[in-house]
This record gives sequence, structure tokens and C-alpha cells, in this order.
Amino acid sequence: MKLLLGRDVLHESPVYLEATGSRAVLICGKRGSGKSYTLGVFIEELLTASGGGIIPIIVDPMGVYHTMTLANDLQRDDLFRWALNPKSYPVRLLIPGDLDDLYDQDVLRALRDRQVEVISLKLNPSDLSPDGWCDLFNANINQPLGILLFRCVQQLAKRTQDFSVSDIAKAVERDERANEVTQEALLNRLEAARAWRIFSEHTYQPMDAIFRPGTVNIVDLSRLESGPRGRRNLTVSIIARNLFRARSDSRLREEFGLASPMPRVWLAIDEAHQFIPTGSSTLAKQQLVRWAKEGRQPGLSLVVASQQPSAIDHEVLSQCDVILSHKLTTRDDVGALNRLSQDYMGGELQTFIKRLNRVGEAILVDDERETVHHLSIRPRQSRHGGSSVAPAEEDKLDLWG
Ligand SMILES: Nc1ncnc2c1ncn2[C@@H]1O[C@H](COP(=O)(O)OP(=O)(O)OP(=O)(O)O)[C@@H](O)[C@H]1O
Ligand SMILES: [Mg+2]
Repeated sequence: MKLLLGRDVLHESPVYLEATGSRAVLICGKRGSGKSYTLGVFIEELLTASGGGIIPIIVDPMGVYHTMTLANDLQRDDLFRWALNPKSYPVRLLIPGDLDDLYDQDVLRALRDRQVEVISLKLNPSDLSPDGWCDLFNANINQPLGILLFRCVQQLAKRTQDFSVSDIAKAVERDERANEVTQEALLNRLEAARAWRIFSEHTYQPMDAIFRPGTVNIVDLSRLESGPRGRRNLTVSIIARNLFRARSDSRLREEFGLASPMPRVWLAIDEAHQFIPTGSSTLAKQQLVRWAKEGRQPGLSLVVASQQPSAIDHEVLSQCDVILSHKLTTRDDVGALNRLSQDYMGGELQTFIKRLNRVGEAILVDDERETVHHLSIRPRQSRHGGSSVAPAEEDKLDLWG
């Protein structure tokens, strides 16, 4: 499976990325340098090249990718030069929580008019481990509140996959070992979590019923608060953990030649520093580090995009076997990327980055093939969100003065 990412600036030849196996990709660049646009190209290519045989998921903190249902008629001429056509893609927009709480009716109608399949995503309380529940409330598992919460969730999880936040609250009330103040404190927190309306109250929803192959699955986090223990991180943590488990199960079946219920997954995370920051923990970090480190075997690929490579956890950064860097200017960020330089590059990464001078240009480093390209990214077939018109020609040339 080959992805057409762009054209080599020097040799004019098309630049492809081999994506048959699983990959860990870093897309970086300063503000407005083209990261989200490039991430969109990646997803388009994945859908086309895989013939619908993989599950692409975009974690979208800005709420901009739903425009992929619209064909990019604005760059029709550009596309023509690449022998490509404007094209719309099927989009499944998964919004954690109750739709009516998060979007007004007009917006929902407008999205549906654009053929976006809008779905309320509910998380299964049992998909958060007892540790994860303690982490969510920042409760130390050696202190009374954490001990009580851990015990109650663990007991419920032993009995069934299908329990609600109310069931956890009932277990807390029934617990005879905890004191009343601790019970009250925990019940308050559980009530707050219930009020987010992000957890399902009934019926367990497996991952393969939530995400669809051959469709752009967008997890829209734009209406939720960020922060290391916020709902954005909670959602990513649960999704990453479950996909890992579901794919590991499927991989085992594949090894025995049995039908696999879940195809390979590509998880693309825009603004990734919100989930895997340097030097501090978040609810999602552990799961994402695991994806980057151990995802190859179960067929899980990861794409992380960020303005600041220096703000991305080194454990993830060092696992990336593909780097797509747009223009970077701050010393910290150039330095963080430069540390990923390899012998085969024939020079330091920072010298390649200095050559970039237009929006949509990038340096591609592919560790598998041991190649480096200075390329211009191909135009998008579907509409890029966050800007309604293609930039004027002079803007493209002039963006960095
Ligand atoms: N390859 C490209 N060809 C043509 N236009 C592009 C290309 N890449 C980016 N652009 C344009 O440049 C602008 C900025 O792109 P984009 O939104 O991808 O930047 P970004 O790096 O994600 O910015 P931010 O850090 O603010 O999220 C957009 O208007 C987009 O249309
Ligand atoms: Mg962006």
C-alpha cells in the first residue's frame, strides 16, 4: 500500500510512502505551515490506497475535518496537474456526549445537509480500568478515596462489562469498609462524571460497532475541555486502549487464518501535544506511548501532528519512523527534531528544514527506506477545514516574509 504524499522539489518525481505495515508518523511545523492539510492528504490516501480495508480515525481537537465530505473544487486546476479530481469522502463524525448539549440544532442540520453522519459517542465505563478511574479523579490508589473507587470498579468489572456510572455509585454506597465522608466525596465526583453525559448508561458498545472501515471516522473533541484530566484526554485514552485490545484479538485470529472482526487501524491525532506532552502525565499518554511502542504487531499505526515537536513526549517522538516536517523556526523545536537525525541522511535534519520556504512544502524522512525528500505536498481532493478558500498565490510564497 503506497501513499502519494507529494512531489520531490528537486527531482520533480512523485513521493510515495510505504504503508502496508504499521507506521508511526510525526507531522510537525509552525503555525499555519500546512500540518492539518497534510494530515488530510494522508487520510485521503489511506482510504484510496487501502480500498476501504482499514479504519482511519482522526482525533480532531479543532473540529475542522468534517469538511472532508466536500469535494475541493477550489483547487480543481491544481488537482488536474496531479491527474487527480476533487472528491468527497464519507465522514462519520463521532461527538463524545449528547449532541443537543454540544451543538445547536442549526449546526447539526447543516452538518447532516453536507452528508456528514453525526453520531453521539458514548464511552463504556467498563472500558476505563480501575486505575484509569482513579486517574480520572486524580485519586491516589493508596488513599481512602482511591482505594474505595478502585475496589468498587474492580468488583463490578469482574462481574460484567456492562455497568454504568450509577452502578459504580451504588457499589460505593453499599461498600461497608469505607467511611461515610469518603463515600460522600466519591459520590459527588461520580455524579459530576455522570453529568458530563459522556458515559453510556446501558448496553456495552464494542469498538467495531463505533468505527467503520472505508470511512473517515472523526472524533470531534472541539466542544470538550482540554487539560491532562479533561474529557478530551479521557476520550482518547478509552479509544486507544480499546482499539489496542480489539486489534490484538483480531490479530490473533488472523494468525490462525480465522476471519478478523476488525481491520487495521490508523489513528491520527491533530494537536497531539495535548495528549502526549513532554514532562507531564495525561489520561491518554500511557495508552498512546504503548501504541507507538507496541502497535506494530497488532497492526496499529499512529500519526501525531503538532506545532511543537519539543512539546511531544520523547518516548513517542523517538518511535516515529516517518517524519514529515513543515517549516519550523523556534530553536527548541528545530533542536528536538534535529536530535532525530540519522546517519543515512547525509547531513543534519536542521539543514534540510532550513530549505523549506513555502506553505505545503515539507521534509519527509522515512526510516524504513532510509530516505529523505524535500517535497511539495499534493493538493487535497476534499475540502480543507479551518480555511474556506485556497490561499492566494502571493500568500503561498510570502507567508514567512
Ligand atoms: N499543500 C498545500 N497546498 C496548498 N495550500 C496549503 C497546503 N498546505 C496548507 N495550505 C494552506 O495553508 C493554510 C494553513 O494550513 P493548515 O491549516 O494545514 O496549517 P497548520 O499547520 O495545521 O496550522 P495550525 O498550527 O494553526 O493548526 C490553509 O489555508 C491551507 O489551505
Ligand atoms: Mg492545524
